[in-house]
Amino acid sequence: MRVFVTRFLPGDALDRLRSVADVQLWPEDRPVPTEELRAQAAQADGLLCTVVDPIDRDLLAVARRLRVISNYGVGYDNIDVAAATARRIAVCNTPDVLTNATADIAIGLMIAACRRWWEAEQLLRENRWGSWSPTLLIGQPFSRQTLGIVGLGKIGQAVAQRARGFGMEILYSGRRRPETEKQLGLTWCSSLEELLRDSDIVSLHVPLTETTRGLIGARELRLMKPTAVLVNTSRGAVVDQAALAVALRERWIFAAGLDVYEREPLPADDPLRELDNCVLLPHIGSAETTARIGMADLAVDNLLAVLEGRRPRACVNPEVLD
Ligand code: DGY
Repeated sequence: MRVFVTRFLPGDALDRLRSVADVQLWPEDRPVPTEELRAQAAQADGLLCTVVDPIDRDLLAVARRLRVISNYGVGYDNIDVAAATARRIAVCNTPDVLTNATADIAIGLMIAACRRWWEAEQLLRENRWGSWSPTLLIGQPFSRQTLGIVGLGKIGQAVAQRARGFGMEILYSGRRRPETEKQLGLTWCSSLEELLRDSDIVSLHVPLTETTRGLIGARELRLMKPTAVLVNTSRGAVVDQAALAVALRERWIFAAGLDVYEREPLPADDPLRELDNCVLLPHIGSAETTARIGMADLAVDNLLAVLEGRRPRACVNPEVLD
């Protein structure tokens, strides 16, 4: 079995994979160039890729031996799943193992944005801290505020669980009304508009699909309170980033906390970089040891399961396994 792995992974999962398969590992810590990715995919039975590797129709057309694409990540918008399914290639991902890590970073971004953490740290490091002052860097409250969760999947629910500990009122929108609604004390909003109007903090946890692309644009940002904070740990393209930059500059909302962007890495001239009321992280939602090692284990387990004719733990197109 020949497997192409697009990045070195933490933990010992790669050694485990090497003990049963012929593993070709891209040796650099940057995305594999398209031509190289195609050439490798053309010879592979299995592909272990990350969320920054575009697995498109053209690649799949040359990947004649490929039986499984195991994504190192829960989101799989980098993969043309319909094209893979048409070729009976299994697409696997890594849910659950990164739920806590991502929920933690969402809460961190909320606090950082509400409490002006970035501005405060800059002030100190740049030696502009004069003295303690009753008016220095007054932010918005976090505890006991109303949190609006857009997308109540596993990560959204983990955020809700944490928010309860901060005494927050929790709203959510979406078609699915999970069983945990009562247990987590959640209030369902019949529309996104209602959630945006009523929330002090809005946190996005939807996957990127054609329906969610640009879900939060100028119209939606205008509905939010001028004191509100927007946090995005899902996918950058869920938010119209140009509209968000205007909203932050013109103070339609108070602040934002972002871990994901329309283009990654965030371009050097992106207007968001100039804004003090925007906390910017470089897509590190799952970047802690338990999550990243768990992702490596699950990605390798999924890949080997398909190649060895067993059912993988997490497959997004299980119909190809029948
Ligand atoms: C994912 O899993 O989709 C993240 O974006 C990377 O952890």
